[in-house]
Amino acid sequence: MPMDRFDIVQSLPNGLVLRADETVIAITALRPDIWRVRIGRHGELPEDASWAVREPARHHDCDISAVRDDDALVTLRTSQSVARVSLASGALEFIDAQEREILADAMDSPFETGRQGFVLNKTLGPNVHIFGLGDKPTQLDHRQQSFSQWNTDSYAFHEGQNPLYKDIPFFMGFDAGRAFGMLLDNTWRKFFDFGVSDPAVIRCGALGGDIDYYVLTGPTPKDVVTAYHWLTGPPPLPPKWALGYQQSRYSYETEDEVRTLALHLRENNIPSDVIWLDLHALDRRRSFTIDDNAFPTFRKMIDDLHVMAFKVVLIADLHIARVTDEPYAPYRLGLEQNAFVHTADGTLYVDEAWGGPSVFPDFADARARAYWAHLFQEPYGTLGVDGIWNDMNEPAIFNDLGTFIPEVRHRIDAPGFTPRNASHAEIHNVYGMLNARATREGLLNIAPDRRPFVMMRASYAGGHRYGVTWTGDNVATWQHLRLSTPMLLSLGLSGFSFAGANLGGFVGSSNPDLLTRWLQVGMFNPIADNHADLGTRPQEPWVDGPDHLRIRREAIAERYRLLPYLYTLAEETSRTGMPMMRPMFLEFPSASGGEVLDRQTPSQFMLGAALLIAPPPYGEIPGEYEVTLPPGGWYDFRTGYRVETDRRAKITGNSGTVTELANSPAHQSHLVTITPVADRIPVYARAGAIIPHHDTISFTSETPSGPLRLAIYAADQCDGDVYDDDGESFGYRNGDFLRQHFTARFEANGRFIVTLGQRAGNRRPWWTSIEITIHGLGSFERLAEDRPCQFDPHRRTLTFNVAADIEETTIIGYGLRQKSSP
Ligand code: GLC
Repeated sequence: MPMDRFDIVQSLPNGLVLRADETVIAITALRPDIWRVRIGRHGELPEDASWAVREPARHHDCDISAVRDDDALVTLRTSQSVARVSLASGALEFIDAQEREILADAMDSPFETGRQGFVLNKTLGPNVHIFGLGDKPTQLDHRQQSFSQWNTDSYAFHEGQNPLYKDIPFFMGFDAGRAFGMLLDNTWRKFFDFGVSDPAVIRCGALGGDIDYYVLTGPTPKDVVTAYHWLTGPPPLPPKWALGYQQSRYSYETEDEVRTLALHLRENNIPSDVIWLDLHALDRRRSFTIDDNAFPTFRKMIDDLHVMAFKVVLIADLHIARVTDEPYAPYRLGLEQNAFVHTADGTLYVDEAWGGPSVFPDFADARARAYWAHLFQEPYGTLGVDGIWNDMNEPAIFNDLGTFIPEVRHRIDAPGFTPRNASHAEIHNVYGMLNARATREGLLNIAPDRRPFVMMRASYAGGHRYGVTWTGDNVATWQHLRLSTPMLLSLGLSGFSFAGANLGGFVGSSNPDLLTRWLQVGMFNPIADNHADLGTRPQEPWVDGPDHLRIRREAIAERYRLLPYLYTLAEETSRTGMPMMRPMFLEFPSASGGEVLDRQTPSQFMLGAALLIAPPPYGEIPGEYEVTLPPGGWYDFRTGYRVETDRRAKITGNSGTVTELANSPAHQSHLVTITPVADRIPVYARAGAIIPHHDTISFTSETPSGPLRLAIYAADQCDGDVYDDDGESFGYRNGDFLRQHFTARFEANGRFIVTLGQRAGNRRPWWTSIEITIHGLGSFERLAEDRPCQFDPHRRTLTFNVAADIEETTIIGYGLRQKSSP
């Protein structure tokens, strides 16, 4: 702990460098809402390099004014936030423009030196809730919980297990509508304690490495999410087929089995896009091989699957079997290119993995990444697989530690870093992400104009730039279905919007009802992959008879009908980082005085801004349950009926009744009681939303037969978008895309006006007409120009068509908004 006073040793355009004794602190503003703090403990600042934060962001400038208030305090001010440094102690405080504290050092010091590493102590206000931190299998709000960060293979993890596969050292604080974020960019084993050891303190720290952290001052939760993605870069747009239904298991063991699976998917009319090949596709579980006995005509099989519009994802684990008695190019090439990790004494590190004694590429080293990238020539270039699955990349090793022994050494050679040797303790948590990075680079080298699909299990902050993820080896229980929602929401708040959970549960066999419910919920997850463990019962949609099949097929088909909405959301994510699956507080930060709406009814979530998905929280205990409808008005998505929240009313379609709420103020949310039905889970559309959809299709690249449909859920102001492109290439970067914005509004006299905005981009739409349905009209007279239309007075729904080539048009109708409480 520094004892001496701090002196300002350097004034920067966007900050200051201070020094006391051996402690050097640099505090800089990168944007008006983002501060970076770097602290060196040995007389100099840490190396300015990062695996997580983009170089242009780290070096971004922002105007500040620095004022020395008195002898004891320096105040740095941007247009949106303030940082104060105590010259006596170096303690820091971040304040918003209204002088409210955001985050401050809780002790009279900027850090504590631990026996090893360091600890930061930050204030935790009494009403601050904490979110993010990656894949934690626990409730969404992390306040009063503590976590350790050390990427760990976690087969059959249980609720509260910690650590798990990923280290995403980024969290968001939220208090009465205002949010902030903090990213502790340190790759070593870390911990976060949100008020456990001291209810008023966030303690976090690392066992080694540098103190380098970012404070994001918000003020809204969405501001924090976009600021995090400005730092780390948003996730790239995946191919459209990644949003399709995916069928997997460990494993489809033979070519026959895979071909039969594909036929069954199509014969049973299960809309589907992807088949996964797990370890049994490989020769003796060796990465970059194919078992020719089980898959005698692999390339032909891939071609045939492509003809059936399936994509194939193949496993490529990072361990390379040490095969010395027969030719195995990945091993030989890696040795030749010195691509594998060694221990401190220079011995090649060999340890047990799926393929037996194995060696491991040193992904921190550019040379090893190039070696690895090159290996994809065979599966991706020659054999024609469409996506790559990097599993076991914590790394998972079959020894007592479950991972590399501490003696393993790495070589850091990466842009921005000074080349040097590093311990495994430093590299462990970024190893999986660097594995995915090298894979992505490999796929891009082979097919520069094809969007790569890389699935990774372990990762670090920023890993979302290289691929997508899933929550790992969950269990086929109702509890795990329940856990999947907060896990995916937390991942989404931590950069990994493109994430899924093994639908149906991986470990153990799921019962028919659980599998059906899980598929229903999973169809609203960003990635929808049904996957099961070796030896578990079959888990394909048809295995439980016609009733379950019908329900499952309808759940999957509904996802495909919503594909325009999903893809539009995915594209938004790829620009802003805004997750597809969102906790309610992200969309409604000031509802009910800034309450975290998710706390009361944690099984529900938003898919984008327009849809609220409300599955039963305890599928194993059928019976009524409550759903929170945030303020602003809602419609039953399936029927289009407005949900009446001002009186006891039947909610048609979901058999729910409103129990509460007479005269609730407009900013209040409503609790409604739902009686679950087996056929579907409740979904609500937000008043004011315009949701694009189409008729169901069998795979994502199929052109729908009907029109583009726009469902308008009447409110004073409505809006929505549709985005489309070829789904596979990077052509959208050069204008080969289509984007159209839609609005609708009611005027005071009751006239409604629908405007189809001008299309942006060069792409022609696949639709030749647009069908517009307005839900929630109180009355209807006519459309201007006497356009043909149908009005259903019972459903209060008006439907009409317009030609797609109308690029910008305004439709005026004479009707009234349905009278209803907000
Ligand atoms: C790991 C993965 C799982 C996979 C299995 C075999 O357990 O998490 O998804 O099926 O390995 O590759």
